Amino acid sequence: MNAIAEPLNARPKTTVIFTCALAALAGLMFGLDIGVISGATQFIQAEFQITDHVIEWIVSSMMLGAAIGALGAGWMSATLGRKRSLILAAVLFVVGSLLSGGAWSPETLIAARVLLGLAIGIASFTAPLYLAEVAPENIRGSMISLYQLMITTGILVAFLSNTAFSYSGSWRWMLGIIAIPGVLFLLGLFFLPESPRWLMMRGRKQMATEVLQKLRGDAEHVSHEVADIEEQLRMPQKGWHLFKENANFRRSVGLGVLLQVVQQLTGINVVMYYAPRIFQDMGYDTAAQMWFTAAVGLTNMLATFIAIGFVDRLGRKPILYAGFTVMAIGLGLVGTMMHLGITTHGEQLFTVAMLLMFIVGFAMSAGPLIWTLCSEVQPLKGRDFGIGCSTFTNWIANMIVGATFLTLLNGIGNAATFWLYAALNVVFILITFFLIPETKNVTLEHIERNLMAGKPLRHIGQ
Ligand code: BGC
Repeated sequence: MNAIAEPLNARPKTTVIFTCALAALAGLMFGLDIGVISGATQFIQAEFQITDHVIEWIVSSMMLGAAIGALGAGWMSATLGRKRSLILAAVLFVVGSLLSGGAWSPETLIAARVLLGLAIGIASFTAPLYLAEVAPENIRGSMISLYQLMITTGILVAFLSNTAFSYSGSWRWMLGIIAIPGVLFLLGLFFLPESPRWLMMRGRKQMATEVLQKLRGDAEHVSHEVADIEEQLRMPQKGWHLFKENANFRRSVGLGVLLQVVQQLTGINVVMYYAPRIFQDMGYDTAAQMWFTAAVGLTNMLATFIAIGFVDRLGRKPILYAGFTVMAIGLGLVGTMMHLGITTHGEQLFTVAMLLMFIVGFAMSAGPLIWTLCSEVQPLKGRDFGIGCSTFTNWIANMIVGATFLTLLNGIGNAATFWLYAALNVVFILITFFLIPETKNVTLEHIERNLMAGKPLRHIGQ
């Protein structure tokens, strides 16, 4: 008999929310890493007397490490399991933070940042995967959005701590202090149960059932879910083999890669890495630049709640349409203001407001939802491989956006750079319409059946 788990309507158990919240803390490391470097570079440059080029290496070595980490994470989380992969990531993160704080040369700093990158590459792969696997479908969207909330919290905390340490210029504290949340996360991880889907892949059905029983409570639902997972696991191929042999799997991998390219080309990290520089171009002094950067961090965090509140009720696509539209308008107007020239105080404030509007658009939509969708659309047998490809793409695209922004500014000018990103956001509205599925309130197994039956991508959630 084909046992299909009925969607859960009951209120989720506290255990599952606690478990998800704990795993989502991986996002905190991600955010701390993204946010921490912008405030430290000028002091590092002064102490080591290094060129802009070496600074670029120090900044981007992390993203390179993350891309490599994301690639290896697929294999790792399949072999070691999700929980042990997260533990390894946390250990690397703590070692990497301490080493960056204590770095005695630019080379050591680069090495330390590669380690940090490896850590968040592994974590940014494993955490959303784990969350999608343990959360029941009726709260899956919000639980993965919780992960994004942690990313944005990490970025905000890093921006604030940078501001605090900037008075004394102690970049070593800025970089080293993030080891503390790292250690707390590491300790918390020991309380996580292993993913029931991974346990089933390893043939440990009894353990998987026990974990599901703790997370779901309802014995009948658990037995359906176990049967459903078993059915998915019957297909013999996996990962790379599946990719070579199965055109439907190639479609979901392609979709995941596209989704992450879309997320990065919204232009979000232009603001995350270069906010002070953008505020400088608007005519603000250093103190104002610092505070507005903190305001960016706060807005980014608060607007994530919009996604958490609505993703499982309104669905993924309506929120994405709204988000890309808001982002296109926000960036379009920032570009227009820069084109017209920002002279009065009112014009300055309007431009800041438009930039913040862009941040709201991202944080309420593409920020959390791309991670959600990427972990939902892959079939179980190829999930590690598929999410590995999309997470790798996230970091490579992140690196490209970060490394080309200043060149774009100098080449085509401020206004055109912002218009370019605004136009891309318009294209993403079309991509949402034609290619992105609605995955609200359906089980992962259901999505997989539709994908494998050859349904068009935008319909695999129906
Ligand atoms: C993105 C990061 C970005 C962050 C900003 C994440 O979803 O993957 O690249 O820096 O959101 O909040």
